[in-house]
Amino acid sequence: MSDEWWRDAVFYEIYVRSFADSGGDGLGDVTGIRARLPYLRELGVDALWLTPFYPSPDADHGYDVADYVDVDPRFGTLADVDALVAEAHELGLRVTIDLVPNHTSDRHRWFAEHPEYYVWTEEPNNWPSHFGGPAWTFDAARGRHYLHLFAPEQPDLDWHVPAVEDEFDAILRFWLDRGVDGFRIDVGHVLYKDPELRDEQEPFPETPFADWRRAVDRPELHPLYRRWRALADSYPGERMFVGEVVLSDPRRIARYVRPDELHLCFNFTFLYEEWDADRLRATIDGTLAALAEVGATSSWVLENHDVTRLATRYGSLRAARAAALLLLALPGAAFLYAGQELGLGEVELPDEARRDPIFRRTGGERIGRDGCRVPLPWSGDAPPFGFTTGEPWLPQPAGWSGLTAEAQAGDPASTLELYRAALAFRPRGGGLDWRASPPGTLVFERGELLCLVNVSAPALDLPEGELVLASEPGVTTVLPPETAAWLRRPVPSYDRGRSARP
Ligand code: BGC
Repeated sequence: MSDEWWRDAVFYEIYVRSFADSGGDGLGDVTGIRARLPYLRELGVDALWLTPFYPSPDADHGYDVADYVDVDPRFGTLADVDALVAEAHELGLRVTIDLVPNHTSDRHRWFAEHPEYYVWTEEPNNWPSHFGGPAWTFDAARGRHYLHLFAPEQPDLDWHVPAVEDEFDAILRFWLDRGVDGFRIDVGHVLYKDPELRDEQEPFPETPFADWRRAVDRPELHPLYRRWRALADSYPGERMFVGEVVLSDPRRIARYVRPDELHLCFNFTFLYEEWDADRLRATIDGTLAALAEVGATSSWVLENHDVTRLATRYGSLRAARAAALLLLALPGAAFLYAGQELGLGEVELPDEARRDPIFRRTGGERIGRDGCRVPLPWSGDAPPFGFTTGEPWLPQPAGWSGLTAEAQAGDPASTLELYRAALAFRPRGGGLDWRASPPGTLVFERGELLCLVNVSAPALDLPEGELVLASEPGVTTVLPPETAAWLRRPVPSYDRGRSARP
């Protein structure tokens, strides 16, 4: 009997190279993560998502995989991953890992030995790469162009080739046999390409969503995900998939989140939404309504290793802290990104320190994602803040001394303690009932809790009830702008408004 643990789980994304370094080479590693498991347990998350730790030439920091069934020696060994999974399980933490099925590294042996696994053409179409420039590179030895929706070092697999499906079955089994609890599917909307490789219509829109591409959201994905689900369901325990399906319409996303397909899909409309009460509410409602139709659960995300840190995006740490109470009160699963619980902002890096292929490939026109990937500050007053005994792979700002986990632990006013408390008191199960509230605010009930968020109103009076948690210290009867609070019911003062249940 399944307990569907993932339905309201909080996942914590570990960007492996930036989390904790045990070896002194300035790159985070698996043993570093093991040493921090008690911290994660104490934080109160339910599951981890580890970004790729497989052997990789690092053209896209591990998202160019050279071997799906091994561990890059810089990050550890298979035995280290086994030990991490076992120790996490002992602490009640589940472990999910990144599956990168759209492309491999150009140094994966398949690219040399099985060129038929990849997408080739003699006449490139007009598809652009997400990282800048065309999505095609000429291979002189083969006299043809290969497709890469990302960097040229990341050739796209041709998922219409049955052997590719078989290879990935074996990869899934390899990790399921080792006891992992699930997979995050990298760019899970693009695996199958238009077999005719037709041109896209120009001009290409500037959007983080991929809806406009012909090579996305193709019907062949559904049988593949049904196959993966059946495979995972044949294992004991409840193994799960979360898809990175980057579509803007939640009704399209909902088609993947089904009892015989993926368990969860990231909801990036929420991630890309502005800090604006009406817009946030419309996004929340749109998502819940679309997923309710298929009995599915939403996955709420506000940060990951590809986007600007929340405190910077929303313009203040204060707003980011209020958003934490919104995120963790919503019904469904939530994903946190390492460092979000410390309230880290985006780091301004000098150009010469930047490592993201986006920066390189666009000649600096797009600065890329390094600013949210700077190694975590754990302790001490100066870089490397306990992250490593060596030189961190990206420089940390000296100004982080007040933001280390050590400095924040035990301080009730800190962001770390806010997250710890929110994770402890977070409502689970059930739906969301909106209450009428003034413009610029969001107020809803979740079971016993009333969640109040003042995004931009001059003030929001707190109704009667027991104050469980406030995003800023000193809040007692009124929420100033950019703050949020959780109250315990019964709370009679607000009218019942529209409701939406997942
Ligand atoms: C990952 C990125 C990566 C890209 C290509 C994304 O969805 O999150 O970090 O660059 O896929 O693998």
